[in-house]
Amino acid sequence: MARYHTPCMPAEVVHYLNGRRGQTIVDGTLGGGGHARMISSQIAPDGLLIGIDQDKDAIDHARNNLARYDSRVKLIHANFADLDHILDDLGIARVDGVLLDIGLSRHQLQESGRGFSFSRNEPLDMRMNTDDPTAAADIVQTADEQTLARLFRDYGEERRARTLARAIVRERGHIDLTRSRNLADLITRIVPRREAAKSKIHPATRVFMALRIAVNRELDRLRQALPVAIERLVPGGRLCVLSFHSLEDRIVKHTFREMSLGCRCDPRLPACTCQGRPRVRLLTRRVARPEAAEIEANPLARSTRLRAVEKLGQVQEEDPP
Ligand SMILES: C[S@@+](CC[C@H](N)C(=O)[O-])C[C@H]1O[C@@H](n2cnc3c(N)ncnc32)[C@H](O)[C@@H]1O
Repeated sequence: MARYHTPCMPAEVVHYLNGRRGQTIVDGTLGGGGHARMISSQIAPDGLLIGIDQDKDAIDHARNNLARYDSRVKLIHANFADLDHILDDLGIARVDGVLLDIGLSRHQLQESGRGFSFSRNEPLDMRMNTDDPTAAADIVQTADEQTLARLFRDYGEERRARTLARAIVRERGHIDLTRSRNLADLITRIVPRREAAKSKIHPATRVFMALRIAVNRELDRLRQALPVAIERLVPGGRLCVLSFHSLEDRIVKHTFREMSLGCRCDPRLPACTCQGRPRVRLLTRRVARPEAAEIEANPLARSTRLRAVEKLGQVQEEDPP
């Protein structure tokens, strides 16, 4: 059987999470359970791994992959944006570490049959959680030209957003754009050949990325999750985030920087009035990237970006009432 997913930057994740025996660590993006296995072995025999994924396939797969840690692993089908509720339901106030490895697993991209890739002509679904109400095909079939253009521009950073949106609205009554390859072929016909030849990526890549981000509300969920994850760490606890494109990385970078700042008062004021204090210490001043050898062995790792922080503060101050 093909591998479900090869974990990206495994040595760096282990280093920055710094898991130790007996700790409680959340893997918010379980996927194939590759990172989760490494974390479980670090915190064994008495630690607890809370594994979350919004894709039921991932939960089923990880259950097998983590069978040997069975009693010290809790697997939860949920969105990591709901971390507060998940921990409340488990009766856990604080955790020692959180890992978010956002993006797609190799299984989702290549085997799920949900149209994440245009290498096969699959139904254009793109939901990581198949219980969610809206699939990519619904957006392509019903959104107006302006909405599609905004989505392609904002989430895909697509230069030809308007042209492509116009073509989709014009053609959707004639071509079956509810299938991945049909949509990719339409885009390929519109983008001038010379321009496509100069680009390192397929002409449809940015539109597919934009649709996926919209369907799964990926940026909103990341924005929601980061402060909660930090809030729920014990002092000294660590949050490590792997992201795969610049929009996600920008959110991580700004949130981490914002939370690492102390007083935000005008420096000309005689005294601080905001009482701001840093919540975290940056462990990665610059974004960390995979080594060339890793990219060679696992090309899906090539755009990985890793950032990590450590929670600051006193235990007594941090405990909830
Ligand atoms: C890159 S894979 C993770 C791979 C994993 N670290 C491993 O070592 O096998 C990303 C996983 O995160 C899940 N995911 C993405 N966004 C999520 C979210 N907001 N909540 C829960 N799971 C999410 C996806 O369904 C996918 O299974």
